[in-house]
Amino acid sequence: MPTETRYAFDNRSDEAVDQFQVLESFLDPITASHLDRLGVPAGAHCWEVGAGAGSIARLLAELVGPTGSVTATDLDLARLTTPTGSTGSTGSTGSLLVRRHDVRYEQPPGGPFDLIHARLLLLHLPERHEVLATLAGALRPGGVLLIEEFDRSPLSVLTPVDPAERDLFSRVIDTVLTVLGDRGADLDWGRQVPAAMTRLGLTEVHTTIHAESWSHDGGTRLHEINSRQLQEPLLAAGLTLDELTRFRALVRRPGFKALSYTLVSISARKPG
Ligand SMILES: C[S@@+](CC[C@H](N)C(=O)[O-])C[C@H]1O[C@@H](n2cnc3c(N)ncnc32)[C@H](O)[C@@H]1O
Repeated sequence: MPTETRYAFDNRSDEAVDQFQVLESFLDPITASHLDRLGVPAGAHCWEVGAGAGSIARLLAELVGPTGSVTATDLDLARLTTPTGSTGSTGSTGSLLVRRHDVRYEQPPGGPFDLIHARLLLLHLPERHEVLATLAGALRPGGVLLIEEFDRSPLSVLTPVDPAERDLFSRVIDTVLTVLGDRGADLDWGRQVPAAMTRLGLTEVHTTIHAESWSHDGGTRLHEINSRQLQEPLLAAGLTLDELTRFRALVRRPGFKALSYTLVSISARKPG
């Protein structure tokens, strides 16, 4: 079984703590509203795939209660935190089971599941079509799949800045996306998911898109964090350390705002 990963970020890096914290504070309310719309009853069996730091796994565990189960899996459990606060290991706490698992090559960890959720995962995996089929296959009849992905869309600066700073912002973001693409990510994948789900025989395919302004003390921190996590490949791709330093100062500047990444959320049901 292949064990290498091309996933661009390192969950063990110091920056990963902040990365997950910014992602969760932006994305969790959006995901929670989709889960609310879809309904996660007590007693349901769920799979949270590529669980990261585990906030949605913990939310699902609360929703399903002691008669249900949530299996939270990730290639790297370093930041996955259980309701008791323990981090980084396989095990179970109440209805939450944590497993190290590579969704590209391993069989689903149990199932069939009533709900499967994967956020910002498949876009990173070149094997995304096969993985989507694996997830659809792990649903019980009537079960729901919720996939959420960032999408390539212009991250416009929303506050007055020098034209040179606007150019710098675009150049760094474009280079980040190029580096992610070189590692196998596809930022056009989110909008392909509805058709891919339909081809797999899923029904009730429903798509929503969310973007909002990010400010210097909130979401734009993700740009700074990512620029640190990916510093080496960004320099190799032609940016200079001076440009990265000026970019970090720009996104940290009080009052700075830019449009967030666009989140595409797609849900679908297995007939039956
Ligand atoms: C961008 S993070 C998103 C984390 C979480 N889903 C969230 O939205 O907060 C992607 C996660 O997917 C995990 N991952 C990457 N490749 C994976 C694979 N092949 N199988 C399982 N998890 C993987 C990473 O370790 C990381 O925790």
